[in-house]
Formats: sequence, structure tokens, C-alpha cells
Amino acid sequence: MRQHGTWQGDGIYFGADYNPEQWPEQVWADDVALMRRAGVNLVSVGIFSWALLEPSPGRYEFDWLDRALDVLHAGGIHVDLATATASPPPWLAHRHPETLPRAVGGGVLWPGGRQAYCPSSPVFRERSLALVEAVADRYAEHPAVVMWHVSNELGCHNVHCYCDVSAEAFRGWLRERYGDLDRLNDAWGTAFWSQRYHDWAEINPPRSTLTIANPTQQLDFLRFSSDEQRAQLRAEREVLKRRVRQPVTTNFMIGMAKHMDYHSWTSDVDLVANDHYLMATDPYAHLGLSFAADQTRSVAGGDPWLLMEHSTSAVNWQPRNVAKTPGQLRRNSLTHVARGADGVLFFQWRASRAGAEKYHSALVPHAGPDTKVFDEVCRLGADLAALAEVRGSRVEAEVAILFDWEAWWGVELDSHPSVDVTYPDRMRALYDALWRAGVTADVVHPSADLSGYRLVLVPTLYLVRDADAEALHRYVAGGGTALVTYFSGIVDEHDHIRLGGYPGAFRELLGVRTEEFFPLLAGERVALDDGSTADVWTEWLHPVGAEVVASYEDGPLPGVPALTRHRVGDGTAWYLATRLDEAATDALVGRLITEAGVRPPAAAPTGVEVVRRRADDRSWLFVVNHTDAEATLDVTGTDLLTGQPCGGTLRVPAGEVAVVREEPAVSGAVPAGEPSPAAAA
Ligand code: GAL
Repeated sequence: MRQHGTWQGDGIYFGADYNPEQWPEQVWADDVALMRRAGVNLVSVGIFSWALLEPSPGRYEFDWLDRALDVLHAGGIHVDLATATASPPPWLAHRHPETLPRAVGGGVLWPGGRQAYCPSSPVFRERSLALVEAVADRYAEHPAVVMWHVSNELGCHNVHCYCDVSAEAFRGWLRERYGDLDRLNDAWGTAFWSQRYHDWAEINPPRSTLTIANPTQQLDFLRFSSDEQRAQLRAEREVLKRRVRQPVTTNFMIGMAKHMDYHSWTSDVDLVANDHYLMATDPYAHLGLSFAADQTRSVAGGDPWLLMEHSTSAVNWQPRNVAKTPGQLRRNSLTHVARGADGVLFFQWRASRAGAEKYHSALVPHAGPDTKVFDEVCRLGADLAALAEVRGSRVEAEVAILFDWEAWWGVELDSHPSVDVTYPDRMRALYDALWRAGVTADVVHPSADLSGYRLVLVPTLYLVRDADAEALHRYVAGGGTALVTYFSGIVDEHDHIRLGGYPGAFRELLGVRTEEFFPLLAGERVALDDGSTADVWTEWLHPVGAEVVASYEDGPLPGVPALTRHRVGDGTAWYLATRLDEAATDALVGRLITEAGVRPPAAAPTGVEVVRRRADDRSWLFVVNHTDAEATLDVTGTDLLTGQPCGGTLRVPAGEVAVVREEPAVSGAVPAGEPSPAAAA
């Protein structure tokens, strides 16, 4: 486990971004007293402090930060110290306007918000690394500092820059990737529309065009842009590693961000940290939270990870910012812990009086500590202290969902058969069906080792590499069960169609051949002969060895198969060629988990989330009751949150959470072929 030895102190981390520079120093002592009252033990400091730490080029003012860190240390609060490079000071753009990013149409994106720098700018790189050096030299030995926080949400706002500096960097990246222009021309399919390049200097980022831009050019620009952000992380990390001994991390945005390929970033951090915010428009936002947590754990290779930010209540950046109802903060935070987080931090400690985020919730609201939010914060602090023994344990999952950022980028390029086919759509539909069935899933890259899973779900894997498609075939032939959904296996890594019939890379595995897509109009529905309905997508599919499970009854293709099942070696590969409604998706996933012998950690009513963490000979069952009714589960052990034993029956009131140390520990191993009781029910 990579992160072992990287966590300091005991137990679960609890805290927030702390921005003392927004407040008079008299407030700092109150802050520390309140932190102690709440049980806070870790704060991230200095994230947006560049303009104060370096008021003019090369002139550093650390006195205020010295005092802030000393106050925190005296109060026993650990510090995750930022490199402070997240947002450059106004003087940088003033002196070096060429560091400003440019939008796709060429317009300058000015300072006044944050992160206003071109990610490929050598000037930004030089100035930011000079700051990292100065901060690291000053605080490497400060006793409060237990962790380093590179930048902040790299790529959140500035991931795609179209300026001339970026164009030059893009050309350099392409030279590395392709070596010569012939290979680039082949990969980009430039025989089309008179696009052949004869000189590297002719190539640009995919800036605003009159019509559809070359799709492989777009895809490569997305790859390049993710790599440029990663390069900043690596450069800062390198400076830190020469100077500090504490672990280095940065906050990812897994579950929210499309444009950073975090699978390729993991080796650049000592521990994976993530930020997550609920989306008010998601009717199943708490399932989205679980998805993000499961994916973060998977990106961390199954190791414990740190929730660097979430919110105590409303955020300020959605059109309608919904506050959390009583108990929701606790359910949200403990769900992250259930799914592998060993630390729970928030944005931010004290709600700001001024600035763009003054309506964002915090641990200490504008109304002060005598509030529902601060009460819940204190309760959470006590909960997390009671969960100390869970730290370092791992979550077990028998199901994998394949996820690849490149497949996301590919499938959502323009000029495709239907705008209604998006990557998160079927990803979440399948995940949510598993969630409702009480089954824990890992969310892994297609190149991950699949051998330990009983079931593998493959939603919309539009772009897939040969090696990954072959690995899925081997997994099934070896006895696994897989489900592939429509518009998967269609193109290779250059976005070139795999010829001979869809779904290209998975044709043999699935035992089908599709000759033409028949996308549906907005709102159009089709009926299937098993009683279910579907929308968005149908296709003219021929079974080539696969058994037909369900066919269309109406729509453009009556009688054509929509769901098939194919025996391959010792396993089974299913293909779903349409977008099933929610009930039918739940039924299909229920059938798959039964057939594959997947078993939830414990039988529980729908809406009661149950996850097991294990370490050696101990296990803990997390039970989060999202329903309006008390839930009863068969569990034996001690609830760490109440200290009460439960001898066979655990009662969890509506909206509450229990974390039971199971006595004796329960093994996650499931006897082969044993059906899931919950799924069968
Ligand atoms: C994050 C960011 C924080 C704060 C927060 C508000 O994206 O890292 O600095 O802006 O969102 O929700």
C-alpha cells in the first residue's frame, strides 16, 4: 500500500481549508478554540495566498503565515500546507500579459477570478516554482506541517488554453507522440477535407472553426491539455521532494471533472485526495457522491484516500444552491469514509465576508457557532474520533465498472449519431442500479486486473484499445460475467472506426454484428417484448452466436434483438443495445448479480446504504439510512458511533448512520455461485 506511513497522528483526519488571511489576527485564536471544540485536526492553509506571500516578484513576506502556523501548532492542529500557486497574483499578468490564457475563439481570459494562467506558460512555470521553493524552504521543518498540497484543483478553470504559447507546446507534444508528420496525418485522417499537414508549424490547437473540427485533433488536444496540468503537478512535486519529507498531494475532482485523466496522475501523488460537491440537479445526488467515492478509491488503487473538500451545506456556484437538511452532512461525510476515505475535510473553515464565495457554506457560518451547521460539525468530529480504528482498512468490491477518461472525451466529440449518448449517462444508470441492489463496485480503468471480480460492467466504452478489449475477452472466457452497453468498442485510440460491423472491438466477445445505428428522436420510446421500454438508441443487430434475451416490439426495428447473451469459454458476455428505462435497468442488473454470484455486504432495504471495510482479521459495516423509516439489519458487533453492542439485530433510525465493528469479523469472500439473497428477493 503506497500511502502507508504517509498519515500522521491517529485516526481519521477532520478539517477544512483555512484562510486566516481573510480575517484580522484576533479572530485566529477564536478559530483555533472552535476547531478544538469541533475536533478538527487538519487544515489546508495558504491555497490562495500567492499575492500576499509574494507582493512583488522575488519579495516574499512570510511573517503572517509564520504566525498563523504557530497559532495552529500551539492549538494542536496539523497543517496541509499549500504551495500557494493555485492563482497567480495580479502583478504576474500585469508584467507578463502573455501568461494569460485564451479561449477557443482567441479572446483573453483576464485576471479577476482565479487560475488565470496559461498552463503551458514558461513564465508561469518559472515564477510558480520559485514560490514553491521559497515556501518549502521556509516550512519544511515546521512542526505543524504534515502534508503538502500542490496548487488547487489543477485544471478546474484553465485546462484548455488556445494561445500561441499553448499552440507551440501542443506541437511539441505531438512531435513526441507521433515522431513524424506522416504518422500524425494518418492518425488524424487528414486525407479528409484537405487537411494534410506538410509542416509542423501549420498545426494549431482546435480553435474556433467554421464547422466540425478534426475529431482526432480535438482528442489529442484534450490529451495534451490533461498532460500539461499534470506537468505542473510533477514540476511542483519535484521541487518539494528535494526539500520536504512530508507526503505530497493535490486535490482531484473525481466524479465531477471530465478533462483531467487522473488515472495517469496517481503516480505523482503520495496519497490520493479528492473534492466532491453534490449537484442539486441530480435527483440521486447521494448516489453520485457514492460513485465519486468509489471511483476515487479505485484511482487510489484501493488504498485509503483523503476527502479534501466537500460542503457542510449549500455551495454558491450552482444556479440554485440547496442547503443540507439536518443529518445530511453526517450521512454525506460518513459515506465517504465508508467508501475508503480516511479523512474528511471541507471548503472552508469560516464563511467569508467578502469575495466570490461569500454565500458558500462553511464549518463556521456567518451566523456563528450557535447554529445547526456548527452543531452538526461538532457531532461529526465526535463521530470521526470514534472511528479511529477504521483507518487503513480497505473496502471490498466484487463488481467492477470500467471507466476511461479518454472514452469519455471520445464519445462526446461532435458530429456523432446522437447527442443523447453521453458518457456519464449509462455509467451512472448501471452504478445506481448496483447501489439500489446494495452492491459495492470499484470503478476502474479498462487496463485494470479484472480477475478478482465476479461481474464487470462496461458502459459506453466508445474508444477502447486492442489490449483492453482482449483483456475483457480473457476475463469472460476465464469464467467472468460482463455486460457491455451500446456505442462501445466503436473506435481505436485515434478515433478511427473499427470496420466490419459494430460494436467493433467487442463483436466476437458479444457474438453479435450490428450493421447500422437507428438512434431515436427526442422523447421517442420503444417497447421490448419482455415488457420493458427504452429510448435514445436502437441498432440493426444480428446475433452471431449470441442468444436473444429481448427484442423490440415496435419502433424502427420491430423483431430486432435489443438484449443478448453469449457464452464465451467459461463465462458470459451480455450486450445491451438500447437505453433501458430505470426499472428494466434495475431488473437486468439484479439478474446479472444473481447469475454472477455477487452478494451485497448485508441484506438491507433499498435506500439503506451498506458498505464493508476490512483490515486483516477485523471488519466494519457502515450503514447509512437514507430512508424515512427505521431500518433493521442482521448484524452482530458494536456500533462505534453509539458505543452500543448489537447482538444480531441492528436498528438504524431514519436518516441516521451506524458503523459496526463486526464480532466476529465477516469475510468478504463469497462462495462461488452463491446467489445474492437481496438480488433474488
Ligand atoms: C472548489 C475549490 C475551492 C472552492 C470550492 C467551492 O472547487 O477548490 O477553492 O472554490 O470549490 O465549492
